[in-house]
Amino acid sequence: MAGEMSILGSAILALFLAGYLGQQYLPPPKPKVIGIDLGTTFCSVGVFHPGLGEVEVIGDLQGRKSIPSVVSFTVSGIHSGYEGQDLADANPLNTIYDAKRFIGKLFTPEDLERESTPYQFQVLHHNGSAEFSISTNRTFTVTPEYISSRLLLNMKKMAEGYLGVLISKAVISVPADFDERQRNYTVWAANLAGLEVLRVINEPTAAAMAYGLHKVDVLNVLVVDLGGGTLDVSLLNKQGGMFLTRAMAGNNKLGGQDFNQRLLQHVFARVHEQYGALPSHEGDIHTLRQAVEAAKLNLTFGQTSVIRVPLSLRGSVGSVVYEDVLTRQLFEDLNADLFQKILTPIEEVLREGRLDKSEVDEIVLVGGSTRIPRIRQIIAQYFGMEPNTSVDPELAVVTGVALQAGIMGGSWPLQVSAIEIPNRHLRKTNFL
Ligand SMILES: *[C@@H]1O[C@H](CO)[C@@H](O)[C@H](O)[C@H]1NC(C)=O
Ligand SMILES: *[C@@H]1O[C@H](CO)[C@@H](O)[C@H](O)[C@H]1NC(C)=O
Ligand SMILES: *[C@@H]1O[C@H](CO)[C@@H](O)[C@H](O)[C@H]1NC(C)=O
Ligand SMILES: *[C@@H]1O[C@H](CO)[C@@H](O)[C@H](O)[C@H]1NC(C)=O
Ligand SMILES: *[C@@H]1O[C@H](CO)[C@@H](O)[C@H](O)[C@H]1NC(C)=O
Repeated sequence: MAGEMSILGSAILALFLAGYLGQQYLPPPKPKVIGIDLGTTFCSVGVFHPGLGEVEVIGDLQGRKSIPSVVSFTVSGIHSGYEGQDLADANPLNTIYDAKRFIGKLFTPEDLERESTPYQFQVLHHNGSAEFSISTNRTFTVTPEYISSRLLLNMKKMAEGYLGVLISKAVISVPADFDERQRNYTVWAANLAGLEVLRVINEPTAAAMAYGLHKVDVLNVLVVDLGGGTLDVSLLNKQGGMFLTRAMAGNNKLGGQDFNQRLLQHVFARVHEQYGALPSHEGDIHTLRQAVEAAKLNLTFGQTSVIRVPLSLRGSVGSVVYEDVLTRQLFEDLNADLFQKILTPIEEVLREGRLDKSEVDEIVLVGGSTRIPRIRQIIAQYFGMEPNTSVDPELAVVTGVALQAGIMGGSWPLQVSAIEIPNRHLRKTNFL
């Protein structure tokens, strides 16, 4: 009897072992939850691979991982991402971008009018909310959450195409200063795109997670997010393994576009100096804008950048090829005052958080503009320590969101369920 039992026991054990060992030869499970960074200017999507234990940010067919947050409406349909951006010049009135600046926000008619001035598309005031007017072969309005839903749908499809499975669950990041209404509308946008949102996480918290700061012994983390048009600074405080946003400040009129503008003004002045005429054709101005952006990016790595643009100038000057050498020093000089402005909200969050700068344990940089060497230098000099830069600043948020998606999908080896303490009564100070 005892013998039979042990034979049975061994058989069960053998079966169990075979199953256990067999698992190693099965393909690793596919991620079921995606992480999305729904940014003002770019979106990204990532997943946590349980088998590999790492995050992968998914690219489109051309391998691009930051997809423009642009939706363009034409007679033939709705075009999101790069497709939408490519239509922006030809179809400016029906190409919507920056929808995140409007989503879930209540405006007085005057406030909305002021917010809408920079845009070519028409923004309507509808019972406190913003709506965009579209005219293709018919005229209709769309809401900011509808625009966001198209961008999220694009991310969902990119992930599905890449992973080869259907996706219905997501974790999404939002700015730390989004209120409950803005968060709700973001969640609805995801629902419209067929996604159930398992968690909404603050962007600075996601960035800190991308650096693994939820797993190491740090107390105070400063997150500096400098994108195309806005600067957001957050002071995070870790309490019992969870991040609490202790203070926020920012400047919603400072970013890469402003640095480009200074460079563009310089280039205009140089053209005038050389030819006695200013560029005036829309096509020329567009080409110059692109050249200036390319030059700025090159100056992150090199000391000089050559700009070469054919122009057709007014009057007797006619067609010329404008060529000039731009140096990093010139770029820094042209923007010296703007770069210095970055310290204002940093000082504010320290003051509000009642923290000395020496008490900041880690500095996390987010957003493409934090690649600019002079900006890194200004921050490093202020704190007397190097900021953490090992993660691509444009992918730091999506990396952290995908980690959180991995946790929510149950594939994270550590049992971390909540990573963030929500706080309701925090407001962001804005410095213009
Ligand atoms: C607009 O054009 C599209 C594509 O040509 C067509 O399918 C649609 O019916 C048109 N709508 C109206 C209102 O004419
Ligand atoms: C207008 O907005 C208020 C408050 O947001 C809401 O209660 C009301 O139902 C809205 N009315 C319409 C017609 O949408
Ligand atoms: C947000 O959504 C939740 C759940 O649907 C709801 O209880 C809450 O009232 C909403 N808040 C706002 C400000 O819309
Ligand atoms: C930027 O660098 C790339 C590669 O070195 C070069 O091909 C390109 O012409 C440069 N552009 C500018 C504007 O300097
Ligand atoms: C960056 O973060 C990692 C992980 O927390 C840390 O070990 C490293 O020292 C940091 N590097 C810098 C330059 O702060």
